[in-house]
Amino acid sequence: MPRKILVTNALPYANGDIHLGHLVGYIQGDIWVRYQRMRGNTVHYVCADDTHGTPVMLRAEKEGITPEALIGRVHGEHLRDFTDFGVAFDNYHSTHSAENRAYAEDVYTKLQAAELIDTRAIEQFYDPVKEMFLPDRFIKGECPKCGAADQYGDNCEVCGAAYAPTELKNPHSAVSGAKPVLKTSEHYFFRLSDPRAVAFLREWTRGTNAAGTRRLQAEAANKMKEWLGDESVGDGGNTLSDWDISRDAPYFGFEIPGAPGKYFYVWLDAPIGYLASFRNLAERRGDIAVDEFTDAVRAETAGTEMVHFIGKDILYFHALFWPAMLRFAGYRTPTQLCVNGFLTVDGAKMSKSRGTFITARSYVSQGLNPEWLRYYFATKSNGTMEDVDLSLDDMVAKVNSDLVGKYVNIASRCAGFIAKRFDGRLGAHDPQATADFEAAFAAGTIAHAYEERDYGRALREIMRLADLANQYVNDHKPWELAKQEGQEARLHVVCSTALTHFRDLTLYLKPVLPALAEKVEAFLAIDPLVWPQTWQPLPTAHAINPYAHLMTRVERKQIDALLDANRESLAPAAPAAKVASSQQRHAEKQQHEAQSAETAMPHISIDDFTKVDLRIARIVGAEHVEGADKLIRLQLDIGETENGQTKLRQVFAGIKSAYDPATLVGRLTVMVVNLAPRKMKFGVSEGMVLAASDADDKGAGIYILTPDSGAASGMRVK
Ligand code: 2FM
Ligand code: ZN
Repeated sequence: MPRKILVTNALPYANGDIHLGHLVGYIQGDIWVRYQRMRGNTVHYVCADDTHGTPVMLRAEKEGITPEALIGRVHGEHLRDFTDFGVAFDNYHSTHSAENRAYAEDVYTKLQAAELIDTRAIEQFYDPVKEMFLPDRFIKGECPKCGAADQYGDNCEVCGAAYAPTELKNPHSAVSGAKPVLKTSEHYFFRLSDPRAVAFLREWTRGTNAAGTRRLQAEAANKMKEWLGDESVGDGGNTLSDWDISRDAPYFGFEIPGAPGKYFYVWLDAPIGYLASFRNLAERRGDIAVDEFTDAVRAETAGTEMVHFIGKDILYFHALFWPAMLRFAGYRTPTQLCVNGFLTVDGAKMSKSRGTFITARSYVSQGLNPEWLRYYFATKSNGTMEDVDLSLDDMVAKVNSDLVGKYVNIASRCAGFIAKRFDGRLGAHDPQATADFEAAFAAGTIAHAYEERDYGRALREIMRLADLANQYVNDHKPWELAKQEGQEARLHVVCSTALTHFRDLTLYLKPVLPALAEKVEAFLAIDPLVWPQTWQPLPTAHAINPYAHLMTRVERKQIDALLDANRESLAPAAPAAKVASSQQRHAEKQQHEAQSAETAMPHISIDDFTKVDLRIARIVGAEHVEGADKLIRLQLDIGETENGQTKLRQVFAGIKSAYDPATLVGRLTVMVVNLAPRKMKFGVSEGMVLAASDADDKGAGIYILTPDSGAASGMRVK
């Protein structure tokens, strides 16, 4: 029976950008969802913006807009970031929605009916100028322990001490600067200290779900034990206290029913936002029975699951408050929490001054391929709460060697022969090679690793298979068979077999690299890949499409530019620029050089420009040139034919330092086709391909131009 799973990722706050630290958990969630779907399971994958609270309210005020306008804008930005990284929610909703209000009120009313809501007066800091109660983060003062100035109301960033805001010395409001005063107000509490709640949570956090899987990873369950204590000792050692779920006006959120001027605290309606997003999806779709996923009784009968992907910083909310809210309001409780660790970059906390606090937007706008990061994060994910380190050099090495060097290489070495020699049609496959390939891994190892979110293990296994597939190509050398008389049939079998292996590798990589897999499906002219019931080779005589470029190498200098971009966004305004870091000076120098290069050339007329015949060219062959240390010999298809045959142009391009010929085959680029042919030591060069580089072709590297997708060989560039 296919599983029916509601999967969520933590709702990001609507007052900040998505950065790489966020993406760890989103990418892990998305991979799991894609894997489950490939297995034939039904998955509803939802998320939303977490919109409520004081920070959103104050930021909107500062920008001179309404909170609604702010969260509307941020919603668009967040959704675009997720989409660009292939994180494909079925619905990306908002906690500031009608569905969420209805669910929040329902949960609250039911908790009240269960006598789990209490009120009591508490004393808190109040800003008399701004006329609002101040959250701890909006109170600053001197640390009561070490005396450090300008510390937040909850902990000191200098000595690490934690304290109550009332302990700060010389406190002031970070909103108005006024000296806060203590003021009493009535607050609403969820009575988590109630014996029913404690007993439920002890059982829930330690237990397993219907499938026999632990609801919490072992480390998470242990953490909970520290808070919940153990019923076998004395008073049980429970340290859980009642949870304050209300905030006073002014507050951006939902007013509590029957309590004018009191609002639900943002953390009450945030997880409820999972349900709201799901209901909103169901209402749009019309074919989802919401109650089967959300109602305690119906979910049990229907055997549905609810799985939350979250970061370890919000474990407390998801393992204690959230299941208790659901349980005592008659909703189903989570099947499983998948908790990920924090992101470090090169072994250290993300840092704005080092440029390692990298936003999703900057990564995309610097032209880096999001699937490089998906792949790298996946290699570092093992299903535990351990922190994930993004080692930048390691990422460059892994992407280039695994994806470009091993995986893509299989197709790029074999596809051309199928196109050129066999009219684009596959031949029979080599049953022995395939049997060896399939026997090389224990069936189910990869599937099991995906299920357990141990993506690193899945990918190690897949790369082992890629090594075997490459070994097969190396052993049979299609490029040599192609030159030998009477080896036509063998060449056909070898290339077809290698492409079948390539198809299998693509299938296994697809949860991690969905965009790349889609390109491969188009190239191989096959239906979207799903987890196979029984293995089948690509059929004999199946027509494939011409090989199109699949993935470029990542260069360290692209990473450095990304760090620079994230560092630069913090560069202080004009006067302080004098003390710019060496990296900033380097960036400024480069910018200056780029500008002077722009103005250095004299004007030309449009007629001058149209004399240059620029065409889209497909690289159909690329190889090193013996005796030349800078050149690669390219064979280019610019749509010309001679006696019904494609006529290729030969160009010697000075790009050897930047490209491995194997990775160029299949790519489209731009070529000057009416440059007078030039006789060189190695042969005639019949044109030129366009590439970007800095003034002296050194340092910053060489980048050949690639047209946008849709362009085809022979098209005029003007
Ligand atoms: O920590 C955060 O970023 C919260 N906005 C996460 C909320 S997750 C869920 F509970 F909504
Ligand atoms: Zn201190």
